[in-house]
Amino acid sequence: MNIITLTVNGQSIQKTVSDRTHLGDFLRDTVQLTGTHLGCEHGVCGACTVLLDGEPVRACITYAVACEGRSITTIEGYDSDPVMSRLRVAFQAHHALQCGYCTPGMLATARDIILRLPQADEQRVRIELAGNLCRCTGYMGIVSAILAVLQDLRDHPDAQVQALRVAMAKGMTKPVVMSEAEAAQGFTSFEAKRELGQISEASAQMPLRPAIIGGVSETQGGSQQVQQKGTKVNASFDVPFGVDAVWSFMSDLKAVASCLPGAQIESETPEQVAGKIAIKFGPMSAIFKGSATISRDAAQRVAVLKGVGQDSVSQSRATGDVRYQLEASSASSTRVAVELLYTLQGPLAQFSRSGLVQEFVRRMVADFGKNVSQRLAHPETIAPPQAKAIHPVTVMLSIIWQKIKSVFGSR
Ligand code: FES
Ligand code: FES
Repeated sequence: MNIITLTVNGQSIQKTVSDRTHLGDFLRDTVQLTGTHLGCEHGVCGACTVLLDGEPVRACITYAVACEGRSITTIEGYDSDPVMSRLRVAFQAHHALQCGYCTPGMLATARDIILRLPQADEQRVRIELAGNLCRCTGYMGIVSAILAVLQDLRDHPDAQVQALRVAMAKGMTKPVVMSEAEAAQGFTSFEAKRELGQISEASAQMPLRPAIIGGVSETQGGSQQVQQKGTKVNASFDVPFGVDAVWSFMSDLKAVASCLPGAQIESETPEQVAGKIAIKFGPMSAIFKGSATISRDAAQRVAVLKGVGQDSVSQSRATGDVRYQLEASSASSTRVAVELLYTLQGPLAQFSRSGLVQEFVRRMVADFGKNVSQRLAHPETIAPPQAKAIHPVTVMLSIIWQKIKSVFGSR
């Protein structure tokens, strides 16, 4: 056993620990600070991230004895930290947490991004967050919250945050911790200001590290491609009719809606459409209500719908750009290529993970293609198809099968 002295959230403490106790267990079990969460306990998930002398570390792979004389900041220690107070508001506004298990580690990493990378863009934020896994949110809200804080600080520079950036550049940053007297007065002193010296604000703008990945990055825990803002899914279907007939049919939005299971159009102008779509996925069901703008290029046989919607039950929000392009495969056959770029925020965002949404969309597009063929063959059919429940086990099996095929090659 060892006796160690260290500072935790501004308080000096002395405790006895074994050689093998990691910092996460030490903080939770010995210091009773249970805000530090433990997930994988081998340095992968980031749930246990705390600050060690101002820098994020994995508590689960840091020995407590190695922290002798050091300063630790846990999620309980950011009360008056100027970056964390902004992140708290932004995480709430952007729905950046659900169960909250990843949140203490996520916030510690987010704070580091805000201080270290003032000019970070979405791609950079995603790369920096790659070491923090979230099972719930689909990351969109987390990334949006961090980007919102970065943008706000660019638009309205904050002297306290800037001083922390300068201190970090000099290797001496730590969160602001109020003394009891200051807390009682409601006044926050700012230790880092005394460390500013002659460094200018400009010199605190740390250069970005070179981008690691070109135009495309991958979301954490999945293989979904992220370009611009959202996740992209591609699908296609064939219709046994000429391209002119299919284009004319698909220019009639009511006819299109009648082929999309669960969709209903409520109002329509040449450029705008409002309506709702019911979705069933195993035990989950949602009715997204919203509107979309439409643009069409008849010469190229391309149409683009840009829509936003919200599920009234879960309050999940979705945005989606659907682009479809028709191409004649023969005189009597048309291939319809569909590209969906979407974002999901709120409780349903968990379905963004692991290919579930892609598989769901592909099935919807396949059903839609069958219905278009049927309607063109039998125009007198008017009953719109009901939302069809898709069993998640079937979808999971399909995803597993796709992965097996991609490993061994399709035969
Ligand atoms: S619990 Fe430490 S990284 Fe997962
Ligand atoms: S694991 Fe991230 S909010 Fe639940």
